[in-house]
Amino acid sequence: MSIKKLTRWDLQKKKDSNEKAVWITAYDYWNASFAQKAGMDMILVGDSLGMCVYGYEGTVPVTMDQCIYHSEAVRRGAKNTFIIGDMPFLSYQVSVENAVLNAGRFHKEAGVDAIKLEGGQRVCRQIRAISDGGMLVMGHIGLTPQSSGQLGGFKAQGRTAETAHELIQDAKSIQDAGAFSVLVEAVPPEVCGIIKNTLSIPVYSIGAGIEADGQLMISSDVVGVFQAFTPKFVKKYENLADKTIKAFSDYREDVIKGNFPAPEHTYKMVEGEMDKLKKLL
Ligand code: KIV
Repeated sequence: MSIKKLTRWDLQKKKDSNEKAVWITAYDYWNASFAQKAGMDMILVGDSLGMCVYGYEGTVPVTMDQCIYHSEAVRRGAKNTFIIGDMPFLSYQVSVENAVLNAGRFHKEAGVDAIKLEGGQRVCRQIRAISDGGMLVMGHIGLTPQSSGQLGGFKAQGRTAETAHELIQDAKSIQDAGAFSVLVEAVPPEVCGIIKNTLSIPVYSIGAGIEADGQLMISSDVVGVFQAFTPKFVKKYENLADKTIKAFSDYREDVIKGNFPAPEHTYKMVEGEMDKLKKLL
């Protein structure tokens, strides 16, 4: 089946016709190819790679170079899927100029289709400048892991009228600054629903309920390999951690018991060459 890469207008059409978009994170070639084969509308090369690939406790240590390497691999694995590069901590907060240059790196070096950055009104100057540079920007509000220290941890957001109102203002500002879509993380569904109905651009959810124009999930959660913790909004569709540990243990046991490698896993010498070798010894 040949897959046609979606454009921002295809994604917009999905919102306008109430068709859900489905996307997932990927950090490497193989998972990107699986995501494309499964028919994902988009792939996010999230800075969650810090936790899912490198074993950091959060996303703050992740660098631009790491994000670029992983985005390049994902691009090779999913040539026909809309790919979003995730701007890591300090790649856009310091200055508008720095933000445009780093967004540009994602496009020039890894061939992504869009970038995502965290924050509302306080990053709108960056969103405007990157959009003016001809690039597509996705906003990300609610639980923004890069500022988890400021938020008091990985906690749900927008649960009071005042904080929900602030999130709605953030979402509007992001749209006004030129973003093509917004991701809302760990927010009550009613609040995400208001944001979705207020904005004309697509509003996606991770842990923000069914009202949104589409859903994102972290691939390591979906297949059950991320072991550190499981957020409330995660649904595990597989338990690859247990399956992988079993495969590794079975292999180890086979070697210890002399069951591997078996004859079918070995190469045959060319006919008659063993006799010649014996004579040479
Ligand atoms: O890095 C990531 O995967 C993300 C999601 C948690 C939204 O930004």
